Amino acid sequence: MVSPTLSFIYTVATFSLLGATSAASVHIETVNKRFADTWYHSDDHPAYSLFRRQEQTDGVTYPDVGSDEWSSAFPPASPDTDDLPQVWVDALNAAVSAGTIPDIPPSTMGGNGNPVYPDGLSPTSSEVCSATYQCRISGEIWDAPDGVFGAGFDDGPLPTSTKLYNFLHENNVHATHFMIGVNILENPDVFTHAFETNGDDIAVHTWTHPYMTTKTNLEVVGELGWTMQLIHNSTGGRLPRYWRPPYGDSDTRVSAIAREVFGLTTIVWNHDTDDWSLTTGGTTSSKVHSQLSKWLSGPKSPGLIILEHELSDMSVQAFIDAYPLIGQNNWDFVSVAEASGVGAWQNVNSDGSVNRVPSPVLGANASANGATSSAKKTGVAAVSVTSGVLSSMTATNSAATGDVTGTSAGSGNGSSQSASATGSGVPKLKDTQTGGARRLLAMPAWPTSILSALAVVGAAVFA
Ligand SMILES: *[C@@H]1O[C@H](CO)[C@@H](O)[C@H](O)[C@H]1NC(C)=O
Ligand SMILES: *[C@@H]1O[C@H](CO)[C@@H](O)[C@H](O)[C@H]1NC(C)=O
Ligand SMILES: *[C@@H]1O[C@H](CO)[C@@H](O)[C@H](O)[C@H]1NC(C)=O
Repeated sequence: MVSPTLSFIYTVATFSLLGATSAASVHIETVNKRFADTWYHSDDHPAYSLFRRQEQTDGVTYPDVGSDEWSSAFPPASPDTDDLPQVWVDALNAAVSAGTIPDIPPSTMGGNGNPVYPDGLSPTSSEVCSATYQCRISGEIWDAPDGVFGAGFDDGPLPTSTKLYNFLHENNVHATHFMIGVNILENPDVFTHAFETNGDDIAVHTWTHPYMTTKTNLEVVGELGWTMQLIHNSTGGRLPRYWRPPYGDSDTRVSAIAREVFGLTTIVWNHDTDDWSLTTGGTTSSKVHSQLSKWLSGPKSPGLIILEHELSDMSVQAFIDAYPLIGQNNWDFVSVAEASGVGAWQNVNSDGSVNRVPSPVLGANASANGATSSAKKTGVAAVSVTSGVLSSMTATNSAATGDVTGTSAGSGNGSSQSASATGSGVPKLKDTQTGGARRLLAMPAWPTSILSALAVVGAAVFA
């Protein structure tokens, strides 16, 4: 087996607020790192706790998680693209003008759960590079470093998550939870359990769990932006660094919008248990267990990023049953966000303090009342988003699929663009329902759109 070469170069995305607003908001940090075997802090390392100071905030007082004030400005279901904060739209338009968002059309979803592109565009071409077809885009994360079990769970927070969180906490380990925005709105206490009690990492799994490549640019912005904003407003101002595409469905366009507009890096996976289908008979507990046993006793290179879900008691139990094998086989158990070496958050310093998001793209001033926002007062606030080599990681082989295409060449030193933000984005959507639409989502804890999508995907890849 070819031993993959993993190399990482991170330039932390920087957002600077220029113009009439305060210079104190500019924060630029560049980290170039080549990781040795022990490039991360294990959970018992003294420095580790520094990254876990959940009480640190960016100085803004946010409404209590779960309160009406906390939830009222967020959309209860699929975001309306006519009601997106203008600054997000401006940032998207600026990125499009700067040529950093590939101009490829949205896909349509085939009956087998695989996206189809119009005009004979090949999903595996470098132009499209569909993750559903296992095409890896430079800068995305698919593998953990050698010897590392990068722990992550999708689709929470849900009532079924509680058992998982208790188990992780009792075992003194941390995971990354790729959360769905509407599920956070529905299960604020479960969210708080993950973030406050466990001190776990939170990442973006979109607002309503759609196939993202089927969405327009603006729809992609809404799905990512609202989830990011809700996590930001529920964690003392932290800004997630990572997102995972539902069903593993992303491409160059979607990945670029995540990166260029929100600074998000895509995390996929290199093994899939199909544990989401345990409750529908798509797989069985013994099958999941034998797959996990095989991977956990298999090669240490590359490290494991296994798609697992906190979606049902059965999927949670599948992880708990396999957990002893992780230690027995000498894997280092690290949250998948922590495994990247730069942590789960874009704006948390190494001493654990949280920076005010220095950008109107997100943060207090971005979504504050338009009449008082500094952007409005001063007329124009330029947003400078510098991205580029956010991370570059190459794995030459995948034990999981064996058919991974080569990564595209690195994007060089990246790009920068500026947008003028006139006024702030005022979320106009109101949470009008006290028992209506929101409750509908709550019953199965999943939007009906997801349930119908479930019916469509059959045995397809599912995140
Ligand atoms: C946000 O607004 C407040 C009050 O208007 C101001 O003091 C603060 O500096 C602003 N923050 C940023 C990042 O612009
Ligand atoms: C996010 O929190 C800030 C600060 O409390 C608030 O001004 C803003 O309205 C919140 N955003 C939403 C969408 O609730
Ligand atoms: C990248 O940097 C090199 C040298 O620093 C420069 O020659 C090149 O034009 C840059 N490319 C881009 C896309 O900025």
